[in-house]
Amino acid sequence: MHGDKALFCRVNKVEPGEEKSEIAKKHVPVIEIPETLTAKQFYDATIKVGEIEHPNENEHFIQWIEFYVGNVYLGRFDFAPVMTKPQVTVPIVLSHIGLTTQLRAVSRCNLHGIWEGSVDVKTAK
Ligand SMILES: [Fe+2]
Repeated sequence: MHGDKALFCRVNKVEPGEEKSEIAKKHVPVIEIPETLTAKQFYDATIKVGEIEHPNENEHFIQWIEFYVGNVYLGRFDFAPVMTKPQVTVPIVLSHIGLTTQLRAVSRCNLHGIWEGSVDVKTAK
């Protein structure tokens, strides 16, 4: 696994319909938020790395997570391993009623490169 340099030459993600590999299960960020949001109301978006928990050691850890609405940058969170966990909760508010919006989280593992996860949310009145 440590020898797969190609992981560092791209943003790794799971395409729709594609089966998640073991490495993807540990690295694709997962965003937890209700499917439908009421416009102009804050919701907590919780981002975790991996549906299977990723290692969290000095030698192998998640260095950062960035959070976007579509391509709009919302924030970046840096983590030290062992004493913290690559998990963050961010209050977000959307205001455009009737739109489906893609929330995206991008994270970097020091051994396995950059990974992206996303979720679609609807905004209702
Ligand atoms: Fe990793």
